[in-house]
Amino acid sequence: MKLSVIGTGYVGTVTAACFAELGHEVICVDTDEKKVDMINSRQAPIIEDGLDEILKRNVGVSLHATNNYEEAVRNTDFSFICVGTPSDIDGNIDLQPLKNACRCLGTNLRNKKKYHCVVVKSTVVPKTTEDVVIPIIEKESGKSAGSEFGVSMNPEFLREGKAVYDFMNPDKIVIGGIDKRSQLCVKELYDKIDTNVSITDLKTAEMIKYVNNSFLATKVSFANEIGNICKLMGINTYEVMEQVGKDFRISPHFLRSGAGFGGSCFPKDVRALIGKSIELGYDPKILQSVIELNEKQPLKVIDILKKKMNKLEGTQITVLGLAFKSGTDDIRESSSIPIINYLLEKGAYVVAYDPLAMNNMRNVFSNIRYTSTIEEALENSDACLLMTDWDEFREIDNELNLMKRKLVIDARYVLNPNDIKADIKYEGLCW
Ligand code: UGA
Repeated sequence: MKLSVIGTGYVGTVTAACFAELGHEVICVDTDEKKVDMINSRQAPIIEDGLDEILKRNVGVSLHATNNYEEAVRNTDFSFICVGTPSDIDGNIDLQPLKNACRCLGTNLRNKKKYHCVVVKSTVVPKTTEDVVIPIIEKESGKSAGSEFGVSMNPEFLREGKAVYDFMNPDKIVIGGIDKRSQLCVKELYDKIDTNVSITDLKTAEMIKYVNNSFLATKVSFANEIGNICKLMGINTYEVMEQVGKDFRISPHFLRSGAGFGGSCFPKDVRALIGKSIELGYDPKILQSVIELNEKQPLKVIDILKKKMNKLEGTQITVLGLAFKSGTDDIRESSSIPIINYLLEKGAYVVAYDPLAMNNMRNVFSNIRYTSTIEEALENSDACLLMTDWDEFREIDNELNLMKRKLVIDARYVLNPNDIKADIKYEGLCW
């Protein structure tokens, strides 16, 4: 089957590459020439496990990129909208990129005779497809949604760093549609994937995505709250959660406490659901607490640091881990950011290391020192903050000896508290 993918960010590039890998003919569309050129030269515009290989196999065969909407709409039967929906200053999603994509799609559908299905994959607040996407496309194309073009909403559940795996091995596929035809044609695209496919209306599909992310974020904030209580009583919350997670109704996943959740999705999606609820006159207390607790959680690292050190001014503090989680170079809403801000404000000298995310962090902090090894980062430091759960941080026993004062604050349960050498002053965040 032939499909176009609008937007070559995390979701769009993975969606396009994986559909090509499944045997479909795919055209990626982006207004950013640089990204178009990168894809056409078989280079992934993002770091994502397995993506380079898929692009190498498929670009020039069943996949290519363009900035030309007309070409993409004319030569395909589906257009997946995968543009970003960033938060605006009030926490609501910014629909400008989505609206622009709809206008371009609509204009190019005007003269198309053949049936075309528009599929929204971007995460949007329930009813956005009905209230925003459809009216724009109908106006620009002069056609009626349903009878003259199809409309579906097909949310993604892809974790950054594992997105290719998640696309190919999903727990579920959700397809919301304006009518049966729109639902079933999208379902066919996934025929080679063996999983549950749920067919819903448009707004239910949009809501499933928000609830999925909000529930996972709630689980993490719950785990952090329990962790904070455990810390006050000298209990290791990881031992507690290991047992609690054995209850099949709870499951062992997303119970790891630490410095809070980050990334481009959880904070934005929970805030957007809060905003929508308030707009509807409902006060979403649980969701608000999830965000409040998450905003305070990184500062627990600072609380411990302040208790252990008389003053921060003039000290050298090593931050190991800048990405919002391991396996990615993404630093959006990373817990390291408020911590580095605080350290700089107090006059500390910050040295940082991350296996992938240093280049991105340079755009946020140009005034800290980045090192190319863990050893360099730790040499002569007064304290080390473990902020991301990278595997390479798990075996740093010898490197810790390079520090001046061997204080380690572990914000992600990277080190096993039972294996810490006697001369290291180790403090876990919630254990
Ligand atoms: C998340 C969802 O997991 C995906 O299903 C979804 O498709 C995606 O958002 C999205 O909406 O596009 P992602 O943001 O890549 O994926 O990250 P996760 O692996 O879910 O982790 C989110 C944050 O929670 C990270 O900061 C992580 O460190 C934190 N976390 C996760 C914890 O603090 N504890 C846990 O036990 C699990």
